[in-house]
Amino acid sequence: MSLHSLRCKEFGVAMTENRMSVTRELTGEGLEIRGRLPPGLCGTLYRNGPNPRVPDGDAHWFLGEGMVHAVTLGPGGASYRNRWVVPAGQVRLLGKANTNIIRHGGRMMALEEAHAPVMFDPSSPGATGPMPTAWHVGMAPFTAHPKHDPRTGELVFFGYAADGPWSNVIRCGTLAPSGRLTWETRIRAPFCSMIHDMAVTPDHVLLPVLALVGRADRTDRSGFGFAWQPELGGRLALLRRGGDGREVRWFDAPPGYAFHIVNAWEEGGRLFLDLLVYDEPPLFPRGDGGHGSCGSVRPQRWSVPLDGRGEARVAGLPDVTGEFPRIDERFAGSRHTRFYLASRAPGRAGGFHAITRMDAESGQGDQFDFGTDASVSEPVFVPRAPDAARDEGWLLAVAWRPDWRTSRLAVFDAGHIADGPVASVILPQRVPDGFHGNFIPDAHPGRGIA
Ligand SMILES: [Fe+2]
Repeated sequence: MSLHSLRCKEFGVAMTENRMSVTRELTGEGLEIRGRLPPGLCGTLYRNGPNPRVPDGDAHWFLGEGMVHAVTLGPGGASYRNRWVVPAGQVRLLGKANTNIIRHGGRMMALEEAHAPVMFDPSSPGATGPMPTAWHVGMAPFTAHPKHDPRTGELVFFGYAADGPWSNVIRCGTLAPSGRLTWETRIRAPFCSMIHDMAVTPDHVLLPVLALVGRADRTDRSGFGFAWQPELGGRLALLRRGGDGREVRWFDAPPGYAFHIVNAWEEGGRLFLDLLVYDEPPLFPRGDGGHGSCGSVRPQRWSVPLDGRGEARVAGLPDVTGEFPRIDERFAGSRHTRFYLASRAPGRAGGFHAITRMDAESGQGDQFDFGTDASVSEPVFVPRAPDAARDEGWLLAVAWRPDWRTSRLAVFDAGHIADGPVASVILPQRVPDGFHGNFIPDAHPGRGIA
């Protein structure tokens, strides 16, 4: 069974139609804006995702070369720029850098979990190279989902398969706001798990070592060798920030697999994390080589006792079928109420066609549906002002519909999503389905970063 057949069978044409690569690197100024951009919304939304230079129908979606799409908003209007992150000749050295793009220590970093971060200069046609050695992150793996601690400005990270492909060693550490490495330790896990995301609180790190297991003896021709083996049992690794990896506390994980963690916090002696849980991970085969299921996904709240005495617990959250969750990240690591995600109608296969805000306590949702043929990105929350109240801000998402023949950047008032976008920027080309991105205030591609 090829991954291509799995993808097409399980996810249907609607999900793959906006997966096709674009072939041009464009710069577009003075873009058409429908509605009115909020006057204070100044900066650049960077989005990263796979965009293979040479499309290969049998290659896994996760393995395409990263392309960054940047939409800059400001008093002068809106502009767009897209570039492959890594020059073609450097992919073997730097990796594909296709999953996320963040700023830390004054540098833009394109991330993909099997490689070191790649510095990305938005004014250049491609990457400038790997992270400088002064940052001491070397070529070891570095998650695409490091977490900024809003209290300290630190960046907490991990990397699985840290002792080489398929190894069971996980590295975990912290970069100071300057980018300097201030903590690193190693954890020995029961197996090599694809750990896509992490939970971080002011004092602890939790890594979901779930049973999507990598083994060298089942790699496909593109080098992917992960399969779902729930019989091995998932584990949760709890570690004090700054601690020694040998002190890790292990818990049996609740059933299922999660790519993404919404947020985590500590309360009453427990660490809580909200996450989006699949019965089994989509896009991957089972351990016996059989087809995985498309898998339903639902939000859950997991928790573990901080003293290690007791078990992991599961609580349900209001139901929504979606992915790519975000919060108001000024408050990451403390208990949130609202989260935002790309969503789809229950029971429907395919991509995501709506933007939803969920209230985890009341179960109240607020949603805007772009239409069932649409494909919508992760919604990125941008506070209305640096000191705005929690959840007072804008949601930025890139949406595509076949009848538009291009993509649009949709700007929502995060408090009134169902009212539809307050502004839509018509982009000069289609933006293929991607993974993650961030809004960097006052960043202007082509003029360096302010
Ligand atoms: Fe992700």
